[in-house]
Amino acid sequence: MSIVTLNSVSKSYGTVPVLREVSLALTPGEVVALIGRSGSGKSTLLRCVNALERVQSGKIVVDGIEVTSPSADLRKLRQTVGIVFQSYNLFPHYTAEGNITIALTVVKKVPKREAVEIARAALERVGLADKAASFPHQLSGGQQQRVSIARSLALSPKVMLFDEVTSALDPELKDEVLGVMEGLAAGGMTMILVTHEMTFARDVAHRVVFMHGGRIHEEGPPKKLFSAPETPELKQFIKRIF
Ligand SMILES: Nc1ncnc2c1ncn2[C@@H]1O[C@H](COP(=O)(O)OP(=O)(O)OP(=O)(O)O)[C@@H](O)[C@H]1O
Ligand SMILES: [Mg+2]
Repeated sequence: MSIVTLNSVSKSYGTVPVLREVSLALTPGEVVALIGRSGSGKSTLLRCVNALERVQSGKIVVDGIEVTSPSADLRKLRQTVGIVFQSYNLFPHYTAEGNITIALTVVKKVPKREAVEIARAALERVGLADKAASFPHQLSGGQQQRVSIARSLALSPKVMLFDEVTSALDPELKDEVLGVMEGLAAGGMTMILVTHEMTFARDVAHRVVFMHGGRIHEEGPPKKLFSAPETPELKQFIKRIF
């Protein structure tokens, strides 16, 4: 039984097709890494899964919520699916804890005291228990990104989407964020992650999906995909990355 299903999803911007009949299903706890050249549709796919973008045709279902239905309960969807981007999007005038409690009190209507407890637990999960009172400008990029992950986790999502969350970070800060994601994967979180970290994709993802021209061009277990790519496009892509 899958928790995320995309069934022949197509999306265009104007007349330009960006996703072409994409079908993908994740079982609970599955970690899928999306790779592919710039413009291949990776971010668009993620954005369609939590209805930040509407699709022209096809069907997306997440944990029983029909995302592509015009009457989809978006509030419920956004609590089920967390998304984290390359930019952290933290409120500069709120502390780490405040950034999380505001999400809980506003989105989930959680009482303040309970929100504080949840926020602290979420910060602990990303290794930042001691930074609850710090403001974003007092934190490193890696720490800010971990706060933004904690903010998503605080809403108890069943699925997490990560769009190049380490791309803006210095190499030494990447690892702490990748470590958090690895921990989530080990804890059984269902995840789709767009990444250029091929070592991470190889070690943590259960399946790698190579997008090309808005289509799933090739997919499979990471070891197979990276060591024995079948299509010339993936061969070319891998040659450039490794
Ligand atoms: N809001 C938009 N309006 C018009 N075209 C868009 C919009 N967003 C994305 N596109 C186009 O859709 C295509 C796919 O974009 P997308 O951001 O999904 O690619 P990507 O695989 O995430 O690339 P990157 O690796 O550079 O992040 C690109 O050609 C892009 O220019
Ligand atoms: Mg992108």
